[in-house]
Amino acid sequence: MVAVFFKSALAAALLQGALAANGTTCTGTFTPISASAFVDAMNPGWNVGNTLDAVQTEGDWNNPPVVSETFDDMKTAGFKGIRLPVTWAYHFTSQSPDWTVDPAWLQRVSDVVDMITQRGFYVIVNVHHDSWVWADITQASANVTQIEERFYRLWYQIGTKLACKGSMVAFEPINEPPGTTAEHGAEQNKLNDIFLRAINDAGGFNPQRVVTLVGSGEDAVKTSQWFKRPDAKFKNPWAIQYHYYSPYDFIFSAWGKTTWGSDADKATLEADLAAIRGNFTDVPLIIGEWDATSVQIETAARWRYFDFFVRTAAKYNTATVLWDNGADHFNRATHQWRDPTVLSILMNAAKGVTNSLPDSTTDGAATSQSSSAYAYHKLNTSVADISLPFLFNGNTLTSITNGNKALAKGTDYAVSSANITLTRSFLSTIITPAAGMGSLTNLTLSFSAGSPLTLNILQYSTPVLGATSSALPATSADLLIPITWAGQNRPATVKATKSDGTILIDDWTQWLGPLQQGRMTYSGQWDWDGSHVILRAAVLDAVRSAGKTTTFTIEFYPREPSNVANYTITV
Ligand SMILES: *[C@@H]1O[C@H](CO)[C@@H](O)[C@H](O)[C@H]1NC(C)=O
Ligand SMILES: *[C@@H]1O[C@H](CO)[C@@H](O)[C@H](O)[C@H]1NC(C)=O
Ligand SMILES: *[C@@H]1O[C@H](CO)[C@@H](O)[C@H](O)[C@H]1NC(C)=O
Ligand SMILES: *[C@@H]1O[C@H](CO)[C@@H](O)[C@H](O)[C@H]1NC(C)=O
Ligand SMILES: *[C@@H]1O[C@H](CO)[C@@H](O)[C@H](O)[C@H]1NC(C)=O
Ligand SMILES: *[C@@H]1O[C@H](CO)[C@@H](O)[C@H](O)[C@H]1NC(C)=O
Ligand SMILES: *[C@@H]1O[C@H](CO)[C@@H](O)[C@H](O)[C@H]1NC(C)=O
Repeated sequence: MVAVFFKSALAAALLQGALAANGTTCTGTFTPISASAFVDAMNPGWNVGNTLDAVQTEGDWNNPPVVSETFDDMKTAGFKGIRLPVTWAYHFTSQSPDWTVDPAWLQRVSDVVDMITQRGFYVIVNVHHDSWVWADITQASANVTQIEERFYRLWYQIGTKLACKGSMVAFEPINEPPGTTAEHGAEQNKLNDIFLRAINDAGGFNPQRVVTLVGSGEDAVKTSQWFKRPDAKFKNPWAIQYHYYSPYDFIFSAWGKTTWGSDADKATLEADLAAIRGNFTDVPLIIGEWDATSVQIETAARWRYFDFFVRTAAKYNTATVLWDNGADHFNRATHQWRDPTVLSILMNAAKGVTNSLPDSTTDGAATSQSSSAYAYHKLNTSVADISLPFLFNGNTLTSITNGNKALAKGTDYAVSSANITLTRSFLSTIITPAAGMGSLTNLTLSFSAGSPLTLNILQYSTPVLGATSSALPATSADLLIPITWAGQNRPATVKATKSDGTILIDDWTQWLGPLQQGRMTYSGQWDWDGSHVILRAAVLDAVRSAGKTTTFTIEFYPREPSNVANYTITV
């Protein structure tokens, strides 16, 4: 590591070289860092999602303006790096050819960068939703010359404003740039070079700054196919950044895919990460976004995914930055992780420490889904021993606690090579009819190594709908079906079957397993709130165009054939 102190503009100019003829001059120090050292040092990282990237500006989406305490929280959580997505599209104060960016917005970004680096984090700053707001080169109407002009001008101004930030600050040219053809891929390579020219022209320490370059979509396959190395005249240390949200159906809760972790699931994920590594054996790689949200993904499946994903990325020498939109994982207002176990699994996996995990259904042919993250008890049935399979992965169970009370091995629980059994006598102290429904307690399971796990003792019955049918309304809007929750307060999935027995949406799902056939997709087609299951307007449109009475089978956790409620829309 070399620390350089600039005593004069001349010294700075010498270091900046010919590329920075019109650039900024910095005082202060810059400690050069290689791209591989940078991505190692920021691993694992966390995204300040839906914040400075909100359309149109900070505060417009689900998060209030960022506060420095959030970065203290991330320090406590154990993260090493922060990705700071920024949308610039609505902060231009002039048009072509100058494309002036509001100095107040540049200052805000600069101040947030300082909040981050002052806490010892490495940070990646980018251009985010601009990718589709104005920089979408795939649109038939796109004026690519103008996109290039604006992109240069934007990065020249960002580069100028952040020119003298230290080496813990890296740049990413653009988030997930649209692109479906080799021509689009080639244009993205050109935009990468324009970005490099802009920040080098802006001067300061930028000619030595780490950058994470991108291919079309920031997608591993397209990047492998079309990415070309930048013009050798730019001396910036560079890595490749890509994003990974796969398999789509599991990550986005589509088509009833509530399980993950079969050998085939794992092999596919590993092959994906291995393929891009195979294409770029000598390039530092960073997965700048990935996620399996704590909001609606089944707990044991999510934990398995977190563990395997982080471990596999490390195996292929790839850093990871968790996407968090502010609703998925960390509650910035209360400073709490919605599921603290995901964080602990991530941090242990990132350190290479083996985690034990609850077993859960992974077989695509299964008709029900088990999950050892829960001890499910059906209301008004007799309490019996509950035996739950675990993947100890070579660790041993060292204790089970309920709050600050330790359970007694032998009387309260027993352990075999594959199972943890909670005894009837222990469970009878927790599960009573008077205890009500929902989560009764979370036991903490500690192991000889790796993350502790929670085991949620949950009493349930099948939720009851406020109505079981209605006529198709004349015009489609979201349909809110009243529900009284009775366990986990969300659906697992929703199946839509027409009166003739055929599937309403995505007929091809008939070829999937019993837990997926005819199931619709979360958010776009179904959702929920504190007292409703919601069918989206698009689903009612599908009923209208089918012209058939349709039954919606709303399925709950635990997924078993009887734990469902039907709602019929008649035509
Ligand atoms: C900076 O200088 C370079 C090289 O002379 C030139 O091509 C570029 O247009 C200049 N940029 C600005 C913003 O003045
Ligand atoms: C495309 O953008 C360039 C640069 O801003 C501009 O000179 C040109 O007139 C634009 N072309 C059209 C067809 O708008
Ligand atoms: C490069 O990536 C492509 C697309 O994912 C893949 O088919 C190919 O196997 C990869 N090459 C290597 C050497 O891993
Ligand atoms: C459970 O049992 C109680 C008491 O017998 C009864 O009032 C209640 O309706 C039952 N609930 C269910 C869901 O069976
Ligand atoms: C583990 O638990 C499962 C599910 O309850 C049960 O089917 C299995 O027999 C148990 N295995 C052992 C070794 O206790
Ligand atoms: C157990 O943990 C889950 C997930 O964090 C939470 O939703 C639930 O409220 C907890 N149960 C209790 C009784 O605190
Ligand atoms: C719900 O509807 C489906 C499809 O019509 C039917 O097979 C199932 O038995 C119904 N279940 C309940 C609980 O009504």
